Amino acid sequence: LHLNLSIKMKVFINKRIPQIGIDLLKENNLQIIDLENDDPSHEEWLENCKKADIILNVGKNKYDKDFFENCPNVKAISLFSVGFDQVDIAEATKRKIPVGNTPDVLSKATSDVAFLLMQMVSRKANYNIDKVKSGSWKDFDALEQLGQELYGKTLGILGLGRIGFEMAEKCKAAFGMDIIYHNRSHNEQAENELDAKYVSFEELVQSSDVISIHANYTTEQADMFNRSVFDKMKSNLIFINTARGGFHNEKDLYEALRSGKIWGAGLDVTNPEPMNHENPLLQLPNICILPHIGSATIEARNGMSKIAAENIIAFSQNQPMPHCVNP
Ligand code: DGY
Repeated sequence: LHLNLSIKMKVFINKRIPQIGIDLLKENNLQIIDLENDDPSHEEWLENCKKADIILNVGKNKYDKDFFENCPNVKAISLFSVGFDQVDIAEATKRKIPVGNTPDVLSKATSDVAFLLMQMVSRKANYNIDKVKSGSWKDFDALEQLGQELYGKTLGILGLGRIGFEMAEKCKAAFGMDIIYHNRSHNEQAENELDAKYVSFEELVQSSDVISIHANYTTEQADMFNRSVFDKMKSNLIFINTARGGFHNEKDLYEALRSGKIWGAGLDVTNPEPMNHENPLLQLPNICILPHIGSATIEARNGMSKIAAENIIAFSQNQPMPHCVNP
């Protein structure tokens, strides 16, 4: 087999990424389509996609039937994310378009954010920081600013894969929490190493003191956490979502928090993103919201850049992508 190395495949990267991935692509005979600016309009984005053989996607652009029909030259998609909810995988698979993602390298970073939010919410950190900043912190008060401890409490995980495992491991080590989980299948490693127990979704909702979502999102799970679900939770429940904003119904979450039906919530994801800064959720004392920073560490982002490039390089050399999400 003689590869014609003079013909370079064109890669379109729609937003800036750590240099490590760009260097790898260039070293491996790939041509990068240069962007006029780092934040292309929808039209500019689509024009560049049309010219590309391979897309390296950062962020939430949609890859559905319409897209593939508009961009028949696109032969592969490499996502700069572990989540792949923005791609119609069945449609891509039908067209023999492999879709790569970046698992593992962000599991620690993302579970760290879930763990951070859980503690922020349990100790009302946001509310207390605001008091200091606004000058309304007057004196030590034995009955004010009281949080709840997490020791020996029950952590319920929805979606116990790599990120969920890291979260469960931290919670067990730090607070001796009992782990229950609901998932598509059993996670034997978590059952053996962390004594995690598989439960129904109903039981997860009713028995947990903290619920943390680490599942892949599909539209079938839209609003999975809604009023009827919040109504069944314990009143000390801390709700953590670092997965996708679509999992919770925002109005119902607002009501559950405002009425004190649940203790609090920590979100790294909202629907839509970015969240409107005048959103009433932001006024509640028992919520902490971060701007989708789960994988935002130097280490994780470098790792993602490297894997996203490696998926492309493998494809360009007629090899299977090392991390491919098509079935
Ligand atoms: C992921 O990797 O899925 C993050 O949420 C970034 O999109």
